[in-house]
Formats: sequence, C-alpha cells, structure tokens
Amino acid sequence: MAYQEKELQHISRQFQIYGEILHAETFKIGHINETYSATYDQGGTRVRYIHQKINKHVFKEPPAVMKNVVRVTRHIRQKLEAGDREDITRRSLVVIPTRDGQPFYFNGDGEYWRTFIFVEGVQTFEAVQTPKQAFEAGRAFGEFQHHLVDLGGERLLETIPDFHNTRKRFASLMEAVEKDHFSRAKEAKPEIEFAMKHEALASVILDGMEKGRIPERITHNDTKFNNVMLDVRTGKAMCVVDLDTVMHGCALYDFGDMVRTTTSPTLEDERDLSKVKMQLSMFKKLSEGYLSTAGQFLTKAEKDLIAFSGKLITFEIGIRFLTDFLSGDTYFRIHRPGHNLDRCRTQFKLVESIERQEAAMQKFVGSIQCPSPSEPPLNDRAAIRPIATLQARRRGRDLARLDGDR
Ligand SMILES: Nc1ncnc2c1ncn2[C@@H]1O[C@H](COP(=O)(O)OP(=O)(O)O)[C@@H](O)[C@H]1O
Ligand SMILES: [Mg+2]
Repeated sequence: MAYQEKELQHISRQFQIYGEILHAETFKIGHINETYSATYDQGGTRVRYIHQKINKHVFKEPPAVMKNVVRVTRHIRQKLEAGDREDITRRSLVVIPTRDGQPFYFNGDGEYWRTFIFVEGVQTFEAVQTPKQAFEAGRAFGEFQHHLVDLGGERLLETIPDFHNTRKRFASLMEAVEKDHFSRAKEAKPEIEFAMKHEALASVILDGMEKGRIPERITHNDTKFNNVMLDVRTGKAMCVVDLDTVMHGCALYDFGDMVRTTTSPTLEDERDLSKVKMQLSMFKKLSEGYLSTAGQFLTKAEKDLIAFSGKLITFEIGIRFLTDFLSGDTYFRIHRPGHNLDRCRTQFKLVESIERQEAAMQKFVGSIQCPSPSEPPLNDRAAIRPIATLQARRRGRDLARLDGDR
C-alpha cells in the first residue's frame, strides 16, 4: 500500500468488511472528497471498496450529509428491487456501515470517513465527448430524480443552505459591486451591466415555486458528467455518485446545470469566447435522455422551462464567479489573476448563446414524446409480486446467461 498505508489500514477495520486489506490507491477523479479504492481478500476472492474522506470544509455537517445519503440510497435500492432490476449493486451506491452500525466513521480528529461497495466495470469522464454520452447523462439524472419522487418521511437536511437561491445570489453580487473592496468593478463593467440587465431571470423559478406552480422535488445538485459512472462495455449510465448535495429543490436546477456543463465544447474558463456556444445537437440528446426518464413525472409547468433552466443556471454560476472576482477570490480557487472574471465571461457568453437558441431548444423539447407515468406506488408493486416469482425469474435469467456464455 503506497498511500497513507497505516491510516487506511485503520480505517478499513472500522467498517463491516470481512476481509483483509491488500492494497489501496488514490483516485484521481473527484475534486471535493478524498477518494481511495481498496482491494481486499475476502474468503479467497478479491473485492474492492471505496473509502472516502468527506471534505469537512465544504460540508459543515458530515453526519447530516450521510443521513441524507443513506435515506436516498436505501430508497433507490428498494425501487430497483421492486422493479426486479438486474445489477442492483452497480446501479446505486451501497453504504457500508461501521462495525457499530453507523454510516460513517469519525476518527476523533475532525475527519469523517465513509465506505461504499466499489462499482466494477464502469468509468467516468471529465467532459461529455459524444451526443450519446449527453443522452446517458440526461437519462441517469432523470432516473435518479424519478426514483426519489416519492421519498417519504421528514425533509432531507439542507446540507448547503440557499444553494440555488438566485435572488440571494444576485443580491450578493449587488453588495459586492457597491462595496468594491478591491477596486475591480471598473474592470468588470460590461459584466456587471450584463448581470443587471438580466436580473429578472433570478426570480422566474423561485416565483413559480413560491406560488405553487412548480413543485419542489429532490435533486442531485451536482450533475457534472464525472458523477455518472458508465458501463465500460455498453457505455450506458449505471450509477450516479456524489450524493453529498442531494436536497429539496427544483428538478430543473439539475437539468440546467447539465446544459451548462455539457453543451459547450469549451471548459468553463475558456478565454477565447468565440469558441463558447450552446450546441443544439448536444442539447437535443441531453433533453431526450432526461425526458426518457424524468418525462414520467415532470409537470407541464416544469417542461415549459426546460430550455430556460439552462440559461438560468449558467447565469447563476456566472454571477457567483463575478461576485467572487469582486470580493477578492475567496470562494473559487483561482490559478491566475482574473481567473474568476474569465469564468464569468464564459458563462455570460453561454447565456447569450442559449438566449439566441432558446425558442428552438424549447420547441424541440415540446416535440419529444415522454413516457407515460408508469409505475404504481412502490408499496403496491412489492405486494403484487411474491418473492418466489422473483426468484424463479432470476433463476431463468441466470440460466439464459449461462446458455449465452457457452
Ligand atoms: N462506489 C464507487 N465505485 C467506483 N468508483 C467510484 C465510486 N464512488 C466514486 N467513484 C469514483 O470516484 C470519483 C470521485 O467520487 P465522488 O464521490 O464523485 O467525489 P468528489 O465529491 O470528490 O467528486 C467518481 O467520479 C468515480 O469515478
Ligand atoms: Mg464527483
């Protein structure tokens, strides 16, 4: 074991893993938490687990985060089981409890660790490369939301308060402009004007939710493509990860962030603004994928704002970058002077590009055939199908699989 050998040995013994740790590696992908894959010898077979140290600077209350993660993953698992789906432990994260039954281990020194089953045979990518991947990203997050539409019980804990409160985000920008502590407002004059001209965007979804026109849902809130694990053989999305920011919100926030992060061929800090554009071909696949799953539960009011949501979330992130630039770059880490202003410019250029194509985007969304609301409520389904039928069906499938192998 090359990395933090002793610590990982110790960590591994805290969880309900019935094997000996052989080696562990650090995972390159992922920017928030510290992620390790560890290989164990368990009864003579090699199995892997993910050990993750939760970022305590981003998440102030790791136990609250884990409470949400456990509720959400359990619910999804029940849905998958009720739907008689295959490969269940590759389709949703499985939290391994500690030996005393907790969903995390606190090492007494301010660090929180958690463990998941390692999902084998999948890969993640930093950016969407093909329209097919855009479809899969949309489908995966749409399915994730769909599974959680009927999560009962108390509200999930708000792990990052006011995450998408665009009005508050706008107010913070205005405050930063007014204070102008770093005398940078003159450098960002066109961007500040752009933001002020678009102020009305900030209230559209919030108004809709406050007036009850847009329902509150459970959303992922970090719908970057590297949080979708794709099957290495088929390229199909298997499992959505990074559930730390799962909270109540508007379904469209997730979709909007996908538009922002997948439809432009550039990185979010591209300086050559002529390259920044919303590519309709990507948007089409993304929205087809999303509606192939989320289309079952979204209301008309939500569907009508699908193209708009891309513009809103891109605008929201743009004003956050601008606010941070004006406030001395305290939130987003910068790698060069003016980095946050560059990021803001890229976002606003994308907002303009979406604006120009918004009518065409929404028209396309309107032409997509959505699946009809299918599933009866979870409890009914579980009651209808006796276990024996399920087992017989699984046996049948296993035999068919063996046949195929021969
Ligand atoms: N259970 C798992 N099985 C296999 N790989 C995983 C698993 N969980 C996470 N990963 C990999 O680790 C990466 C980082 O994990 P993630 O939870 O997204 O952390 P971060 O918050 O740092 O982005 C993911 O993009 C994925 O490639
Ligand atoms: Mg991640």
